[in-house]
Amino acid sequence: MKLTIVGTGYVGLVSGVSFAELGNDVICVDKDEAKVEQLKQGSSPIYEENLEPLLQKNIANGSIRFTSSLAESAADSDVIMIAVGTPQAEDGSADLRFVHAVAQELGEALPANRPIVVVNKSTVPIGTAEEVETIMTAKNADLNVAVCSVPEFLREGSAVKDTFHPDRIVIGSTVSWARERLVHLHESLADTDNIITTSTRSAEMIKYASNAFLALKISFVNEIANICEAYGADIDEVTRGVGADRRISPHFLNAGLGYGGSCFPKDVQALISIAQQKDYAAGLLNATEALNAKQRLKPVEILSDRYPQGLQAVKVAVFGLAFKPGTDDMREAPSVDIIHELVKAGADVHAHDPIALNTAAPLLPRAVTMHEDAEGALAEAEALILVTEWDEYKNYPINDLSAAMSGKIVIDGRNALDADALKEQGFDYYGIGRR
Ligand code: UDX
Repeated sequence: MKLTIVGTGYVGLVSGVSFAELGNDVICVDKDEAKVEQLKQGSSPIYEENLEPLLQKNIANGSIRFTSSLAESAADSDVIMIAVGTPQAEDGSADLRFVHAVAQELGEALPANRPIVVVNKSTVPIGTAEEVETIMTAKNADLNVAVCSVPEFLREGSAVKDTFHPDRIVIGSTVSWARERLVHLHESLADTDNIITTSTRSAEMIKYASNAFLALKISFVNEIANICEAYGADIDEVTRGVGADRRISPHFLNAGLGYGGSCFPKDVQALISIAQQKDYAAGLLNATEALNAKQRLKPVEILSDRYPQGLQAVKVAVFGLAFKPGTDDMREAPSVDIIHELVKAGADVHAHDPIALNTAAPLLPRAVTMHEDAEGALAEAEALILVTEWDEYKNYPINDLSAAMSGKIVIDGRNALDADALKEQGFDYYGIGRR
């Protein structure tokens, strides 16, 4: 099929490359000409395992092309996917300005009477597909477009793998020819049982509900961890017992410093705002969000308790800046709030991350010293905080920690370190909900 994908962010680029790999003829469009040039050279602006080799392969065999002209590419497409950003507006709602602009442009550019499927892949409020169709047909009443919703569930760090091995594919459309075309496009990616067809509104809701549920699950386990701490129960043992119930499942039950990233925080906020617009107060979602905001500051609370006289000039090493391992993405990374609070309290902060130093630097206070290697950040530190559970830190030899640090405090914000081994070596170990 001929596909146009608008927006070459995470979702757009990964989808474009994947559909090209599946044998479709793909054009990716982005307004950012420098990015288009970079992509034409086969260089990916984001780090994602296996993405660049697939990009290069499909450029070489002509399956994927890049342009900044939407009008030119869209006219003879079978399917046009909108994968532009939906940033958070000041009131927490999703800002749809980019989606609307694409709809306007498509309304002007598309030929009349040719059946074209437009797919919304961006995470958008319920009813947006209908809104996009209204914008397009207001420009040209003779358009034969069906605007559908196919939400994207890929995770950063495993985006290519997730695209090729999805748990399910949700296709939201009430127009049968459009639905059939989309089922056909996706059928090599999933068993037919795993292709779920719904209305556009339900598909839009599925995306928010999925992310909100996962966020809720994380805040829930963090709450249980906090209560475990108060009573001397151990969260690892508790989640092992709880997660064995198949109705609950052991996934997404890791207690820690809470969720970050480009999706969960924004989508929970947006769903709260969507509910509010219909006078529904989403109490559970508000609580999820509030607990998450508080959870990330636990290392600062622990250190403040340890240093009642204050953190002035206390040297603290921070391991990990990215919001999770496997990415250099710093959006809503807990490290930013933690480090700002530490610096405010006068601590001397030394940070390391295997790949996110450059993306992190503009978000952190100038007073932080960034280190290219973990050893540099550790040298003479009184306390270590593990914020992102990169393998490099999980496998860090405890003897080397002892040798490098001047103090013995380890705060393991992701329950990723060997607590017993650290304690044996004389460290004061603090996990999240660990006994
Ligand atoms: C998420 C969804 O998983 C994906 O389906 C959606 O399309 C986009 O949002 P992503 O943001 O890439 O993907 O990250 P994910 O791996 O899901 O982790 C999100 C956050 O939750 C991270 O900050 C992670 O540290 C945290 N997390 C995850 C926990 O704190 N505990 C867990 O058990 C799992």
